[in-house]
Amino acid sequence: MTLHAADFIARKGKHPITMLTAYTCPVARGIEAAGVPVILVGDTVGMVEMGFESTRDVTLEHMEYHIGAVRRGARNTHIIGDLPYLTDSDPQTALTSARRLIAAGASSVKLEGPKGDIIRHLVENGIAVVGHTGLTPQTATSFKKVGNTEAEAQRILDEAKLIEQAGAFMVVLEHIPYNLGGLISRSLSIPTIGIGAGPECDGQVLVINDALGLGDYWPPFSKQYAHVSDTILKVARDFTAEVESLEFPNNIIQFTGSGKR
Ligand code: KIV
Repeated sequence: MTLHAADFIARKGKHPITMLTAYTCPVARGIEAAGVPVILVGDTVGMVEMGFESTRDVTLEHMEYHIGAVRRGARNTHIIGDLPYLTDSDPQTALTSARRLIAAGASSVKLEGPKGDIIRHLVENGIAVVGHTGLTPQTATSFKKVGNTEAEAQRILDEAKLIEQAGAFMVVLEHIPYNLGGLISRSLSIPTIGIGAGPECDGQVLVINDALGLGDYWPPFSKQYAHVSDTILKVARDFTAEVESLEFPNNIIQFTGSGKR
C-alpha cells in the first residue's frame, strides 16, 4: 500500500520512518520488497552513480530517467523526486519542473533551502513537497557539518519552521549537531528525516550506495550494511580468471530454464 503525505505526518512520534535512496529498477524492487515505505530519488545520483563532482550537474532529464526506472521497480511505494539545482528558481519554473517529475513517476518532490513562496505555490497546485535544510549540497561550499554556532543553529531551526509553515509534509535534516536535530524534531509537527542529524529525528535516510558499500568514499554518518564494491571486484577477477583458464563457459550446465529465479 502506498503511503501519502498525511500517513507520514500521522507516523510522527509513533513509528520511525525509514527512507532509502534508489536510482535503478532492481535496487528499487529490493527496497520495496523489504517494506521500506518511502524511496528518495535524490540528486545524489549525480555523484554516486554518474561520477559528477557535484549534485549541481544533475538535470531534469536525468531525474526523469531515474525516477521512471525506480517507479518500474517499486510500483507501490511513495517516491520522492529531487528537484535539481536551479529547476526551482522561481515558483512557476518549480511547478513546471515538479510536474515533469510527477509525470515520470514521483509521488512528491523535494527541494533544498528556505524557499517558502516556492513550496507554497507547489502545494497550492496539488504537489506534495518535502523540504531539506541543514547541509544543502546544491549550494554548499563544503560537506562539513553545519549548525555548530548558536546563530547558525537558530537559522536552521527558523528555516525548518518556514518550510513547515509553507506546507511541506516532511523535512530532511542533513549533517547538523544531534541536539539541533532533536530540537527541530520537537519543534515541528511534520516528520523530520535525518541524515547525520541524530537519533531524535522522526526517521532516517541513507544513500543506498553508502548502505551497500558501493563506492570508495562514505560520509562519516553513514553505515555500510554490505561491501558491494568488494563483491564487484571479486566477481570481475573470478570471471577474468575463468575465461583466461577456459573454465568458463565450459563448466556451465546448459541453460534450459525460464530465466526466473
Ligand atoms: O539527494 C539526496 O540523496 C539527498 C539525501 C542525501 C537526503 O538529498
